[in-house]
Amino acid sequence: MIRRKQMKQAALKANNGENMLLQVNQLSTRFLTERGKVTAVDKISFQVNKGEIIGIVGESGSGKSVMSQSILRLLDYTDEVEYDGEVLFQQLDLLSASTAQLRKIRGADISMIFQDPLSSLNPVYTIGNQLEEVLRLHLKLSRKAARLKAIELLRLTGIPSPEVRVKEYPHQLSGGMQQRVMIAMALACEPQLLIADEPTTALDVTIQAQILQLILQLREKIGMAVLFITHDLGVVSELCTSVKVMYLGQIVEESSTAKLFERPLHPYTQGLLRSMPQLDGDREQPLHVIKGTVPSLLDVPAGCRFATRCPFANMQCSKEEPPMEIVDSNHRVKCWRVREINDMGKGATAYVH
Ligand SMILES: Nc1ncnc2c1ncn2[C@@H]1O[C@H](COP(=O)(O)OP(=O)(O)OP(=O)(O)O)[C@@H](O)[C@H]1O
Ligand SMILES: [Mg+2]
Repeated sequence: MIRRKQMKQAALKANNGENMLLQVNQLSTRFLTERGKVTAVDKISFQVNKGEIIGIVGESGSGKSVMSQSILRLLDYTDEVEYDGEVLFQQLDLLSASTAQLRKIRGADISMIFQDPLSSLNPVYTIGNQLEEVLRLHLKLSRKAARLKAIELLRLTGIPSPEVRVKEYPHQLSGGMQQRVMIAMALACEPQLLIADEPTTALDVTIQAQILQLILQLREKIGMAVLFITHDLGVVSELCTSVKVMYLGQIVEESSTAKLFERPLHPYTQGLLRSMPQLDGDREQPLHVIKGTVPSLLDVPAGCRFATRCPFANMQCSKEEPPMEIVDSNHRVKCWRVREINDMGKGATAYVH
C-alpha cells in the first residue's frame, strides 16, 4: 500500500457530534493498473451516525465496493492501491493507522459482509472454528461459551440444525447458507458499524427478510450503524434511514430515504429510480434504461461525470465539475442544472419515452 500524502494527526480532530461514529473526508482510492492510474473513488465525504442505516446505490462499477473496502483498508493486499483523505473512527485515521490498530477494529468495532461469501470463509476450518475464533479473540469467551454463542448466532441467521452445521466445512453448505454464516460472523461481536456489500442478494426472500430483521434488532439493541450497499431499491426504502447515490466513483446525490424516493433531484437518480421495477407497485409506469454505460475509469469525462449520458447536459456540464450543493435540509446534489431542471418539472418526465 502506498500512502501518497502523510495525513495530519487525526487525533487532533474534534469529534463534532456525540452521535458521530465515522467520518470520511475527501476519500480517494486509486489503482495503478497496466494502462495507467485510475481513480475508483474520488474525493468522497460523509458521516455515519450511531444507529443510522445508510443505503449506497449506483450502477455496477460506480465504486460502491471499493469505497466501502477502503474504509477498512481491505485493499491493502495489493501494492497497486493508494488512498488519500481521512477515515476517522474513534479519533483514529484508519488510512494511516498501523496494521495492529486496524486488526483490532476489523471484525470487532467495524465488520464487513462481502458480496462473495466463499472468498471470506476459510475452506480448511469448520464453520464453528471460524466463528469461535472471532468470538474468543474479540469477546474473550471460553471455548465452551464460544461454541454456544456460535450455535446461537447460526440459529439467529436462520440456519437449520445449527448444532450439526457448526461442525461442517464451508463447502458442505449451500451458497445461501455460506452467506448466512458470513452474516453471523460479521454480527458476532455486535459491531458499532456493519458494512454490508449486497449481503442478501443470494438469499431467498424469507431468509432475506429475517436477516434484515436481525440487522434492525441489533440497531435497536446496540445502536449499530450500517452502510448497506445494494441494487435493491425496495430494500433501501424499507431498511435505510438515508441514501447515497454513487456514479463513477463520486456521490452525486444524498438525502433521507423518504425524500430521495419522493423527489429525486439528480438526473442520474431519476433515471436509476425509473429503471427499477415495481418500486411503487405501479406497473403502468414504463421502465427506462439509462442510455449508454458507465464510462471507463481510464476515460473519465471532464466536468460532470454523468454529462455524457445526461439528457440535460449543456456546455458547462461537459467542462466544469459541479459542486455538491445543499438543495434542501440534508439533501445534497452534484448537478449544475438541478434547480432549473426540477423547477421546470423536467426531471419527472426526462426518462419517460
Ligand atoms: N484492483 C483493482 N484494480 C483496478 N481497478 C479496480 C480494482 N478493483 C476495482 N476496480 C475498478 O473500480 C471500479 C469500481 O468497482 P467496484 O467494484 O467498487 O464497483 P461496484 O459499484 O461495487 O459495482 P457492483 O455493483 O458490480 O458490485 C470499477 O471500474 C472496477 O473495475
Ligand atoms: Mg460491488
